[in-house]
Amino acid sequence: MTRTELEERVEEAALLVSESEYVVALCGAGVSVESGVPTFRGPDGLWTRLGQPSTNSYREFLDDPKSWWEQYLSRSADPARAEFRDAIERAEPNAGHAALVELERAGVLQHTITQNVDDLHRRAGSRKLTEIHGNRTLVRCIGCEARWPREQIAVEEYPPTCAQCGGMVKADSVMFGEPIPHGALETSLLEIERCDCILLVGTSATVMPSAGFPRKVAERGGCVIEINTEETGMTEQADVVLRASAGEAMRMLARRVLESTRPSTGSGRTGFGSS
Ligand code: OAD
Repeated sequence: MTRTELEERVEEAALLVSESEYVVALCGAGVSVESGVPTFRGPDGLWTRLGQPSTNSYREFLDDPKSWWEQYLSRSADPARAEFRDAIERAEPNAGHAALVELERAGVLQHTITQNVDDLHRRAGSRKLTEIHGNRTLVRCIGCEARWPREQIAVEEYPPTCAQCGGMVKADSVMFGEPIPHGALETSLLEIERCDCILLVGTSATVMPSAGFPRKVAERGGCVIEINTEETGMTEQADVVLRASAGEAMRMLARRVLESTRPSTGSGRTGFGSS
């Protein structure tokens, strides 16, 4: 996509955003690429290079939580996990995260659902945020779903237990085979129910239940805007595609939307066409 084509598509996307009542972003690993965190799939993806983890990891955790915790705390991990962890520990939020925060603060973006566990959205300032796959800086009780910073948990006995309900505590990141925590799933479904415009930012939209969200919005006649460097399974259904990095495209989109919503235009969120 040339620069001129991208600018034209950004204009179309900004118009759709401005005309929508309830805009939600669904984010994936592509948002964090400009922060130095690798994606999972695709040519440079973590799993393409190092292999996908066991699809049964939650069952394995439940069967032997003690071994899991010992490995977790000793930081001895398989190469994929170690690379991911090291990249996240070095990472800072980028222009894509910042643009989402700007849109949220301006009242344009109602909610962000992220599949990323890297904590970068929260560090950038997103507050209307659901981390549907958890947050790797936290631990969670599998009973009552209370979450704490992992440093706050004193592991005297493996596995640690919840001070509130006695349930077993695990890393907050959702494992393969683990159900999405109820709270995160309910909030996400509620937000998607209200959404009439979804921004798909840096996600392959292949993992359920998130992969179903843009399809639900499209079925109800809402619009889908894809921001991704590559084609995905949602490209065909998208109303507008911004074929560029999340940082570049989100910065351009936020700038254009916010220009149109500035009070000086005197026309609220309908500044398009007036300039
Ligand atoms: P994927 O690795 O499946 O997809 C990342 C997407 O980002 C791809 O479509 C890339 O084309 C795109 N991409 C790469 N660089 C980009 C950039 N600079 N700007 C914009 N887009 C870019 O990651 P997810 O869709 O997040 O779950 O995967 C969903 C889930 O799969 C993850 O949360 C993870 C995994 O199972 C768990 O670990 C529970």
